[in-house]
Amino acid sequence: MVSANNNAPSMTAAPTPENTLALAHITDPHIASVSDIRARDLLNKRLYGYLKWKLHRGAEHLAAILSALQDDLIQTHPDHIAVTGDLTHLSLPTEFRKARQWLQSLGSPTRVTVIPGNHDAYVKTDWDLSFAHWTDYMLSDDTQVGDNFSLNIESIFPSLRVRGRIALIGVCTAQPTLPYLAVGSVGTVQMQKLKAILARTGEQRLFRVLLIHHPPATGTVSWRKRLKDAAALRSLLASYGAELILHGHAHHTAQSYLEGPHGRIPVVGAPSASALGRTRRCRARYYIYRISSARNGWDIGLSVRIYSADKNRFIPESENQLSLSH
Ligand SMILES: [Fe+2]
Repeated sequence: MVSANNNAPSMTAAPTPENTLALAHITDPHIASVSDIRARDLLNKRLYGYLKWKLHRGAEHLAAILSALQDDLIQTHPDHIAVTGDLTHLSLPTEFRKARQWLQSLGSPTRVTVIPGNHDAYVKTDWDLSFAHWTDYMLSDDTQVGDNFSLNIESIFPSLRVRGRIALIGVCTAQPTLPYLAVGSVGTVQMQKLKAILARTGEQRLFRVLLIHHPPATGTVSWRKRLKDAAALRSLLASYGAELILHGHAHHTAQSYLEGPHGRIPVVGAPSASALGRTRRCRARYYIYRISSARNGWDIGLSVRIYSADKNRFIPESENQLSLSH
């Protein structure tokens, strides 16, 4: 069961009590590097994305907002940061390198967890020129990179990182598609591995946070942006559960619920962390979940911080309290 209370936002972030994990959710920064793009880089779907960037997205995603975000994170200082994809815009090698620098500005790989988004798989890319730059931010805690472990998306995901009693479970839904389409899928192999992880971490009574780029609930995004095997994922979650699902991709605020075995699972999407926002719903935000175990379940304090163009900084937007019973 889930209940929520709204309170007026406080001006400063509350200190994080002991036995509480403060988890920040950031998504879709779309760090672009189109100024020095070569003509041969555009002989594929990138041409479509390049034109979209020139027409409107370049004015939407601003480095100044990411800089303000970095400043704000120094103030709020979450214990952990989850980034749910679309770190790049056209999957260019220069963008992967810039995104690595941005990740390093957020924190160490043990403090920051990354999953890819569809823009990070905009076209098929060479591993060494792309995801290799983020490997240590994506790997599971217990991964031993050696002769028997080949680094690729299929071997890395689903990922599992445990911080205290919080299990961060990363799923990759990113895949190259035709121009205009931005669909994704979990895939049967990853779905099977995910089932085992959800079952094991459920038995351990951990607070399971599923990180996924494409929203798994219906109606959040249009058909061309959908998660193709969302129904199969919802069925899996109905049997094995999760305590919280965080996603990106929609570029607007989104909240819904999925059915779990013991009640509803909150599903929360954040807007792009770098977006000026044509509407308030699309303006850059990031969310901080303060998760602690309670007598009969979990308490979750949720602080939403929104970018203010007037002040050129992030400010508090709302404070909510969620209670989840086992
Ligand atoms: Fe995106």
